[in-house]
Amino acid sequence: TRIFVLNGPNLNLLGHRKPEIYGSTTLADIEKQVRNRAAEHGFDIEFMQSNHEGALIDEIQRARTEADAIIINPAAFTHTSVAIHDALEAAEKPVVEVHLSNVHRREEFRHRSFVSLQATAVIAGAGAFGYTMALDFLAQHLTR
Ligand code: DQA
Repeated sequence: TRIFVLNGPNLNLLGHRKPEIYGSTTLADIEKQVRNRAAEHGFDIEFMQSNHEGALIDEIQRARTEADAIIINPAAFTHTSVAIHDALEAAEKPVVEVHLSNVHRREEFRHRSFVSLQATAVIAGAGAFGYTMALDFLAQHLTR
């Protein structure tokens, strides 16, 4: 079972960017946690981050044929990207949308998500733990 874990713009700055909102955990720490939990479930992981919408879309298109599920933190593209929505729709895979922060208690512009329309599950506000939760969810969802 292969899971793509995709991370959008500015998440490469995690640990340095607004730690009061996003915590002190870096993306490298998150990748380590994801790989550890994935190993427990016997999942293969492809982990990537990009600041570029097109690069994320290329990965989602690849997931269409090469992944069993997608975990995605689309970061700011969550709230803007019809193209990521459309790519996820075309992928026809289970999608777990993860946000470190609880976007619903933040600015109004973060309340709308194009990605949620294509998500099987949405996790927000659990911090880095949200990625691990997403893996645990997929472990039961994919074997149903
Ligand atoms: C985020 C929330 C988004 O609104 C924001 O643009 C991000 C990170 C989160 O993980 O909480 O970059 O996706």
